[in-house]
Amino acid sequence: MSDFAGEERDQGELLSGDELAALQLSRLRATLHRVYERVPFYRQAFDKAGVHPDDCRSLADLSLFPFTTKADLRDQYPFGMFAVPRPEVRRIHASSGTTGRPTVVGYTEGDLSTWADVVARSIRAAGGRPGQVVHIAYGYGLFTGGLGAHYGAERLGCTVVPASGGMTDRQVRLIQDFRPGVIMVTPSYMLTLLDEMERQGIDPRSTSLRTGIFGAEPWTEEMRREIEDRLGIDAVDIYGLSEVMGPGVAQEHASTKDGLHIWEDHFYPEVVDPLTGAVLPDGEPGELVFTSLTKEAMPVIRYRTRDLTRLLPGTARPAFRRMEKITGRSDDMIILRGVNLYPTQIEEILLRVPALAPHFQLRLTREGRLDALTVRVEARRDADAAQREAAAAAVVRAVKEGVGVSVGVEVVDPETLERSVGKIKRIRDLRGEPPIRP
Ligand code: DLL
Repeated sequence: MSDFAGEERDQGELLSGDELAALQLSRLRATLHRVYERVPFYRQAFDKAGVHPDDCRSLADLSLFPFTTKADLRDQYPFGMFAVPRPEVRRIHASSGTTGRPTVVGYTEGDLSTWADVVARSIRAAGGRPGQVVHIAYGYGLFTGGLGAHYGAERLGCTVVPASGGMTDRQVRLIQDFRPGVIMVTPSYMLTLLDEMERQGIDPRSTSLRTGIFGAEPWTEEMRREIEDRLGIDAVDIYGLSEVMGPGVAQEHASTKDGLHIWEDHFYPEVVDPLTGAVLPDGEPGELVFTSLTKEAMPVIRYRTRDLTRLLPGTARPAFRRMEKITGRSDDMIILRGVNLYPTQIEEILLRVPALAPHFQLRLTREGRLDALTVRVEARRDADAAQREAAAAAVVRAVKEGVGVSVGVEVVDPETLERSVGKIKRIRDLRGEPPIRP
């Protein structure tokens, strides 16, 4: 456990609730003016909605302004959303763009510095301290994970190992040799690394690691327990998205592990009804929406994340609200015979069954006119045939009772499912494929 007595805080973290609200309003008004004057997309959108930046007199007035969606950003490809001349943009990141055009984001020197500050703040809240070695296994490149974590860890005063994703056996060697106290990686790739340690005959609990900062994909409390038990660390959640900044928009504190504090002095959150867009009161679940308060190159106004959560009062950082661990993205929701289902619900169930390993995949197929879901999950190494069979039946029952829908369950041999090296893809949608001919 890290020591949090006398933990340092930066100026933003020391604001009172009233000071924070005043700062947010002045920053919000400046941001609205900035985009109205500099980004034709926002001027048109505000004019069309009949609102002007001067109409924002309180934080609640933000709801008068129109939403921004991923489709809007795509339409402005590549640089249409920038609020500064291109030569002032010091760095570009982009989403993978596997479907359609990628989404491009830009950062000024000031933005890169703000980003490093919020990631440094995040690593500190996770229990990381200056002088520690930080192993970064988020991918480096157009993805924001690697470079975002990197500059934050340097800003905090850590020794950074920029391992990036992949070459799993080498990662394990680096962890053995360089003795990092902190690892930053997706939870699914952490599982791959754990298996590799065991394959090499290394007891994961014997490594130097004390803190894991896991994000970029949804993961459950059950997964936290699995990783903490096997590795003997504090496992905490980090959240972010490239459109808003990258990692470091919100961070869970290791002393409470009760959801993620949103760094509200830079990113203003709302939760809205995903269907009507109405702003919901704190505590109600819905879609998370962000407005940037300090970004220069590419501010975003009311960006629809599609991530589902709810806002809760602050704890370890009382002035900042928390967001509950994300249940899933509205895009990842499976509708099976009228029932909504998220991969995290399946993860929760599988990880409670002792004979099953935490590696699983969801296959969607069509049987006649009905969609069917098959959960493929690996058995633990020591599970025998009878235990596997009992485990499959237990999962079928738990999904039927807990979620209210029938699924198929296939328990497969250890090390047969594809391993993650970054963000895991849980769902294989095979419904569109033509029938296989003999
Ligand atoms: O995934 C940024 C990031 C990198 C965050 C490293 C944390 C750690 P994108 O590639 O733009 O950016 O994907 C953003 O990933 O809208 C969520 O759906 C999902 N996501 C990110 N963090 C979490 C998390 C990075 N802690 C999208 N829990 C977001 C659940 C997460 N989902």
